[in-house]
Amino acid sequence: MMLAMETKTLKGRSLLTWLDYSSEEIRYFLDLSKQVKAEKQHGEIHQRFAGKTLAMLFEKRSTRTRSSFETSFGEEGGHPVFLSMADIHLGGTKETIEDSARVLGRMYSAIEFRGFKQSTVEALAKYSGVPVYNGLTDDFHPTQVLADILTMEENFGSCTGQKLCFVGDGRNNVARSLMVICAKLGINFTIITPPSLNPDPVLVKICKPIATESGSKIEISVDTGEVKGANALYTDVWVSMGEESIREERIKLLTPYQVNQSLMDKTGRKDCIFLHCLPAIRGEDVSAEVIDGKQSRVWDEAENRKHTIKAIMLATIT
Ligand code: CP
Ligand code: NVA
Repeated sequence: MMLAMETKTLKGRSLLTWLDYSSEEIRYFLDLSKQVKAEKQHGEIHQRFAGKTLAMLFEKRSTRTRSSFETSFGEEGGHPVFLSMADIHLGGTKETIEDSARVLGRMYSAIEFRGFKQSTVEALAKYSGVPVYNGLTDDFHPTQVLADILTMEENFGSCTGQKLCFVGDGRNNVARSLMVICAKLGINFTIITPPSLNPDPVLVKICKPIATESGSKIEISVDTGEVKGANALYTDVWVSMGEESIREERIKLLTPYQVNQSLMDKTGRKDCIFLHCLPAIRGEDVSAEVIDGKQSRVWDEAENRKHTIKAIMLATIT
């Protein structure tokens, strides 16, 4: 059974970035995620994807995202098909992305894509005619941050007016996606990063007025002292997939930004939680003491990937 608010406006839509969704729509996805999580906890079995098919395209590795899409679709009676770049002609010398999209759209109810370029996921959405989900590109990781906000809400009730700080590589896909969803939902969001890793100014310029309208602030700082008052500290790996060649340089740059207990304590809040999209490298982006400590919520956050992804698909697949 769906929530009272009908999802007509969501049916058939793709999720490429949260910029394309209103705060009310994002709220709906969060409420539906809570509902499907409760169903799972009560042992309810549903078959809402019976007769449906999902193409799962992966140019990059994945543990959580693949498992979330594949298990949540399959346990609802759908047929997910995993297609790595070793399996499929996608933008190769023989088949354009547009042609692959047209063909996949004739065979599948929806498509998930993880890879490099945002333009690939956009082309899939434009030419397939079915909902397309961005399972991470170099630019955005929208399904991740819905799970992050759900995890915050499970801890604090409402997130509106709370302060979330992202400490680390401020220009990466996760930081950018958090900036968008926080702006939409009225969550104060601070990126703490060296200036050379500042997020794209064009995106900051888009997000700031959205945040003002929803009553929150987007801030960028080099100063780790800015974590003061934060309800949640968040970090991600310092070297994202595809950037392996600049690893040494990135470690030098980001070592002062490790999330460790001393940084958690600088928030001045004992109830501050630690979030990480995972995978994490203990001793680099986060200390073992923090990720394995009592303020960490990373395992709930990882589990919430599955419930939120199921909710996104339930709301959008026709
Ligand atoms: N957080 C996340 O996207 O994890 P995976 O790379 O394992 O999918
Ligand atoms: N920023 C990381 C996120 C991994 C889930 C990456 O792109 O590799």
